Amino acid sequence: MIRSWSYREEYKDLRKQILKSIDKSINSGKIFFGDELEKFEKNFLKKNNLKYGVAVGSGTDALYLALLSLGIGYGDEVITVSNTAIPTVSAIISAGAKVKFVDVNNNYLMDPEKIEKQITKKTKAIIPVHLYGQSCDMDKINKIAKKYKLKVIEDCAQAQGAKFKGKNVGSLGDAGCFSFYPTKILGAYGDGGFVSTNSKYLCKKIAKIRFYGIEQNDKKNKFNKKYYSNLHGVNSRISEIQAAILNLKLPKVDMWIKKRRTLAKLYMKELKHTSLKLPYENQLYNCKHVYHLFAIYHPKRDLIIRKLREHKIYVNINYPFPIHKMKGYSKIVLNKHLPISEKFAKGIFSLPMYPKLKTVNLLYVTRALKKILQKI
Ligand SMILES: Cc1ncc(COP(=O)(O)O)c(C=O)c1O
Repeated sequence: MIRSWSYREEYKDLRKQILKSIDKSINSGKIFFGDELEKFEKNFLKKNNLKYGVAVGSGTDALYLALLSLGIGYGDEVITVSNTAIPTVSAIISAGAKVKFVDVNNNYLMDPEKIEKQITKKTKAIIPVHLYGQSCDMDKINKIAKKYKLKVIEDCAQAQGAKFKGKNVGSLGDAGCFSFYPTKILGAYGDGGFVSTNSKYLCKKIAKIRFYGIEQNDKKNKFNKKYYSNLHGVNSRISEIQAAILNLKLPKVDMWIKKRRTLAKLYMKELKHTSLKLPYENQLYNCKHVYHLFAIYHPKRDLIIRKLREHKIYVNINYPFPIHKMKGYSKIVLNKHLPISEKFAKGIFSLPMYPKLKTVNLLYVTRALKKILQKI
């Protein structure tokens, strides 16, 4: 049986070290805001060539906190895409703002040409989503943002390590939001997230908001101010246990991305002459795709998936419904004319992709796919 992803494979390799570090974290007497967090924040920034940032409770929280810290909320509109994970949109609504969608390009990413038409006096920010592990066209998006004085919050949940013109995602806008959900490029064994920024001021603000507005490590903060908030905030802490797990995994992330890229290359080679629409790495902008997902498109997707199951191959669909078509969101989002997003939702599916995927299993998948495609 072959599945779309497996974080348990890497756990097999790291189990002993992980269990030891969990034990050490608990025994340290610090469940939150201890040495593991400090080490992780420093090393995550370094690894991703980012300036400032803090770890938070989840990728969803990262987006929510970025919006709060930039003062975006009630009465504002935020532009993003409909073919994304639900949290991109739910974070905007939690912040109190309205969501306005733009359609995507042929690469499944926000189409910059369609942004200006959606901008109104209420628009305050754009959230480009670096979907599947590839950066959006940040030059064009930033140019529009500058023209209309909008903030740019990059949704990097699926794209840790991806680059645009040689620069890491998360460093290209006002804030970058990462997720450490277990299946992500760098995954915890629980929830976790990160907000990056080029602004020291914003970073300090986010650090306060993640903990009810209480200033951490404030030397001037007298003991009696330990329970004193100077800014409305929320609880979005990441535990020392998760930080310790992330510290163990972080040094391996480059190797894992390399492995994903090698697997993607092999998929491309094997599936080149089929009727599938394969991913495309944007060479023009020197983009580095990290292949969080290997998403492909075929108009007969549902039939292909059924046939793959006969070969015991189980694939995911990321995502089968664009958000403007979901009951929970259809009535509260703006601009529902998104023909390309709708077309892709009907035909997209993700082939197994994780660093420990064996070549023999990948070739089993491509062989089965080619056989199926010849018959349909
Ligand atoms: C594009 C995108 N944005 C945001 C998130 C939210 O991250 P998390 O699950 O860590 O809250 C995810 C992950 O599910 C995602 O894929």
